Amino acid sequence: MIYADNAATTRLSEAAFEKMLPFLREQYGNASSRYTFGVKAKRVIEEARRQVAVAIGAEPSEIAFTSGGSEGNSWVIQGIARLFNGENIHVVASSIEHHSVLNACRKIETCGVSVTYVPVDSVGRISVRDVASSIRPNTKLVSVMFANNEIGTIQPIAEIGKYLREKDVLFHTDAVQAVGHIPVNVKDLQLDFLTASAHKFNGAKGTGFLYKRSGIDLPQLIFGGEQEHGQRAGTENVAGITAMGYALEESVADMSLISEKLTALAETSINGLKAEIPEIRINGQGAERLPGIVNITFPYASGEAVMRLLDLKEVCVSTSSACNSGKDEASHVLLALGLSEKQAKSSIRISYGRYNAMEEAERIVSTVSDVYAKIIANHNY
Ligand SMILES: Cc1ncc(COP(=O)(O)O)c(C=O)c1O
Repeated sequence: MIYADNAATTRLSEAAFEKMLPFLREQYGNASSRYTFGVKAKRVIEEARRQVAVAIGAEPSEIAFTSGGSEGNSWVIQGIARLFNGENIHVVASSIEHHSVLNACRKIETCGVSVTYVPVDSVGRISVRDVASSIRPNTKLVSVMFANNEIGTIQPIAEIGKYLREKDVLFHTDAVQAVGHIPVNVKDLQLDFLTASAHKFNGAKGTGFLYKRSGIDLPQLIFGGEQEHGQRAGTENVAGITAMGYALEESVADMSLISEKLTALAETSINGLKAEIPEIRINGQGAERLPGIVNITFPYASGEAVMRLLDLKEVCVSTSSACNSGKDEASHVLLALGLSEKQAKSSIRISYGRYNAMEEAERIVSTVSDVYAKIIANHNY
């Protein structure tokens, strides 16, 4: 099997797996228990908090562990709405956010918050000028994703952060696709909130973290006990949290090597496929992008058909984001770039990760070309 859907999820790192095993077996103590068995679990969590903080240039006290990206995004968006409950407030988001941001925005709109969705250009880039002109006197939060999960476009986070800090508007970035893959420093970028998820950087599923700048108020999303310094209730996922700490440390240490490798895999795929199918369109090309994501639109084949035929040949790619792939809807990201509905539905995403090899990229080129030729021959577009 060739797994080329790393933007959906990644394989757990071997080192992280080894680190989490003891906490699934013999060291199963509750981190909130006061006896030594529990205190040991607590120490492991605090070590992971330090590892995560170092990786993004934060203080450990600014990190709260969550169940993943969706929780972190909901926490910030809903939290801001609850913080200013009853006041007439305004929030800004990009139009190509992940559904965990977009649907949280739609939810707060039903509670009276007004939201502006800022468009992107044809390569998926938001302009700082457009963000600036969307700001109103009652704007409380701007949420712009660090890097897009479907096309890989990286946003001008530092410029937006600088502008918003001057205007005293809170800035959140969904950095689920960026953390562990490209350099991220919350202080340099002037961020107030950052969301991340472990399973996108070879950690375990169901674990993530929220960075919240020291001194910024954000109401709780999950109520109950006093875990996470009273900010997020629920018995801690000790195994997942420790795996995340090590997976992130490993990702940051290997970042430039992996990035070079992913760039080569993506280039091989793009050049090879363009040679075989010259009419394909590479979405987001020209923008600064994540190294491992290749999003392709075919002229005469549905993405769904290509994906299913690739599946029969044991090649895993996706038609859009994993969260949306069960729906027969055109990708909101590709539509936002200006693609027609038909073009958007004629697209696939190949996303490479640290465990892919060059021969897999080469086999993807030949397999995609074969599958495409078969679809064309059957005229079943
Ligand atoms: C950009 C982005 N944000 C948020 C999420 C949601 O993360 P999680 O699966 O950890 O809830 C994803 C996952 O696909 C994503 O790609």
